[in-house]
Amino acid sequence: MSFWSNKPIHVSNTHTSEHLLQEKELMKNIDKELGASKVQLRYDALNLSNKEHISTVVQFINKNYGWKSSKYVLQYYEEVVQFFGSDRHIALMFYPTGGDAPVGLIVGSVRDVMIKTGFDSFEEKKCVEVNFLCVVQQLRKTNISPFLINTLAKNCLQRFNVTGAFYTVARQLHTEHFGVKRYYHRPLSIERLVEVGLIGDIFLRKSTMAVYKSFNVLYDMKKATEVVHFSNEQFIDNQLVDEVHDRLELYSKANFAVYTKMSRVDVYRMFTTPNIHCFVIKEGNVITDFVCMITVDTLNISNGIRCKAGHVYSYFFNDDSAKVQVSVLEAIGLYAAEHSIFDMITVLDIIGVTEKEYYEYKFLRGSAQLYYYMYNISMQRLDAKRIGMNTI
Ligand SMILES: CC(C)(COP(=O)(O)OP(=O)(O)OC[C@H]1O[C@@H](n2cnc3c(N)ncnc32)[C@H](O)[C@@H]1OP(=O)(O)O)[C@@H](O)C(=O)NCCC(=O)NCCS
Repeated sequence: MSFWSNKPIHVSNTHTSEHLLQEKELMKNIDKELGASKVQLRYDALNLSNKEHISTVVQFINKNYGWKSSKYVLQYYEEVVQFFGSDRHIALMFYPTGGDAPVGLIVGSVRDVMIKTGFDSFEEKKCVEVNFLCVVQQLRKTNISPFLINTLAKNCLQRFNVTGAFYTVARQLHTEHFGVKRYYHRPLSIERLVEVGLIGDIFLRKSTMAVYKSFNVLYDMKKATEVVHFSNEQFIDNQLVDEVHDRLELYSKANFAVYTKMSRVDVYRMFTTPNIHCFVIKEGNVITDFVCMITVDTLNISNGIRCKAGHVYSYFFNDDSAKVQVSVLEAIGLYAAEHSIFDMITVLDIIGVTEKEYYEYKFLRGSAQLYYYMYNISMQRLDAKRIGMNTI
């Protein structure tokens, strides 16, 4: 039987957000499946604030995140994985009984998820955000991941008493997703992207190259616009953190039907963590827009070349029109290219325009899509633009 077919997942066309199973029943189901599982692994709980643990976790991810069929592997930075761990997380590393080499990993972090329930009302639900699920290549398709997922669910229930979870998965599972977003990429260094093999060298020859190289062509950016960049800050102004926090909340409430709530501490951590880049757009002394991007490298294992992508993680815009969003991303792209911060910018369909329009805005359509699943919380089906949970 398919693992997901009997899981508490329900997607409807109206807004409901109740829990499907209560703790006791959920725990009973999980225990039953874990007991009946042919796969039995031992595991260690790691702490993502501990330097040695984080290094073990990141080494495992960077070595095993790839697919046999692809020459590319995503490479994560330690600080970024630590950032995703939050202060309430569970990171489980799995080993075969009697063996010391890890075979699987799963991380869950407790988040406050806001779900729209009416015209101007939201309900706050504690959910586990599931990240970095990974099994070594040799043991894929042996039904290890259901064991990992059930074990994480059990630990989250026991430790945090949280019964809901959300998964973002780059493939369709055998259960209903409540939304899907496509990846789009804005090349900043064509040469590097060709070297790493992500785009063909056709771009170096064809006239389209001119389009992709035209960083200076900014749409409607006013002369006074200024990009202020923050990463790995030692000291950050509390007032700035407060303002960004409040504006993010206002923007999310106005634009999303579901989003992950950011605390002031989360915003502070975005400004102060290496490899997480915050861009504040100002007109005079007024902050108009904000975009936070997380660096994830793509490594080509056949030639050892890597490139840096800035994944848009969190944002607010002065105005929600496509033109404003694109002009802000253009200005940041120009800054990031000039300061060699990223080789491309990756967005999860934040602008919400057609593929043709993305192309006109110089974004290339990625091959992957990200599907959104909610576990044990009934969820409304949503358009891409109304989903405010961005993951990497
Ligand atoms: C993702 C990964 C752990 C899945 O392991 P696997 O052994 O290939 O899993 P299988 O294809 O045998 O799937 C087993 C079950 O887990 C489900 N599953 C697979 N990937 C999943 C995911 N990312 N999240 C939740 N469930 C997942 C499958 O749908 C399947 O359920 P089904 O029986 O209902 O179809 C593994 O492919 C991997 O390590 N990939 C590289 C890292 C990666 O891409 N991680 C996911 C990020 S979204």
